[in-house]
Amino acid sequence: MAEPIPTAADVERAWHDNTLAQVLYHDWEADTYDQKWSISFDERCITYARDRFEAVAGSAGWPYETALEIGAGTGFFSLNLKQAGVVDEVHVTDISPGMVRAARRNAHMLGFEIGGQVAPAERLPFGDASFDLVVGHAVIHHIPDVELAFREMLRVLRPGGRIVICGEPTRIGDRIARTLSRATWWTATRLTRLPPLAQSWGRPAEELDESSRAAALEAVVDLHTFDPATLAATVRRAGAEDVRTVTEELTAAWFGWPVRTLEYALNPDRLGWRWAMFAYRGWLGLSALDRQLSRVVPEELYYNVSVTGRRPADVERM
Ligand SMILES: C[S@@+](CC[C@H](N)C(=O)[O-])C[C@H]1O[C@@H](n2cnc3c(N)ncnc32)[C@H](O)[C@@H]1O
Repeated sequence: MAEPIPTAADVERAWHDNTLAQVLYHDWEADTYDQKWSISFDERCITYARDRFEAVAGSAGWPYETALEIGAGTGFFSLNLKQAGVVDEVHVTDISPGMVRAARRNAHMLGFEIGGQVAPAERLPFGDASFDLVVGHAVIHHIPDVELAFREMLRVLRPGGRIVICGEPTRIGDRIARTLSRATWWTATRLTRLPPLAQSWGRPAEELDESSRAAALEAVVDLHTFDPATLAATVRRAGAEDVRTVTEELTAAWFGWPVRTLEYALNPDRLGWRWAMFAYRGWLGLSALDRQLSRVVPEELYYNVSVTGRRPADVERM
């Protein structure tokens, strides 16, 4: 069953306790998360997960025998990587009990079982050298001490094992995306208050209030954006070698964020299948364009950054 939307008092307490904020917000999101982010476990998302992984870490060594996902949410990344043949045995961790439950349920529906534990990425409940691969997607921007989390990921990796973290917001890309989203929200919510549109296109006021409270809590849980070079330096400082970053999505993010914001702001019954196809095909086409543009556009302007690195194979860790 879905957790209730946090109250205004919860949001107030969460301002002073970031761990509480992360658990409240993500527990509340857990049962509707896949729908909210259009997450599926079919070819569309399998391809997405495999392509993100391959873009930064290549395809050598597939399948990794044992993989751990940190901040796994409902299992979007590791369950789709398993289906893509990138990983074999999957363990997930997340700070939110609701998310771990959802990930295990999704795996079960796909016909396999996974290990699942509630744990912060900074204190993983596994012995040293337990995994061949540690992955994460859209998670480290929520973690207060990012370097500590990378140290912990390296600790649970076997010597020579790899970390792959994808889908993190860049500093400049995120600023542009948020500005576009805010402008879209402002325009759409005002237009749909006008009498001819309110009935059919508007969302009920209480749903809009709920979205606004969720957005307030989102501002508390989103802790970082990253400059690619600074992120790579953090991962090296934590003890990794062969560190590399890749950025993706420029015009695709400028298109995708306003589209997603409209989906929140408008009556969902009005946006049917044609809209979904327009959104998906538009994003795909622009992503392809962005790959071409990456030859001339500075990487910092792109929205997503991925990073990979390895635990050194032949030296004792400090
Ligand atoms: C934006 S969601 C991404 C979920 C999933 N990886 C995906 O891509 O769909 C971020 C996830 O990180 C989790 N999280 C936040 N802080 C964490 C921490 N310190 N340690 C582990 N997980 C954390 C949240 O509970 C949430 O499930």
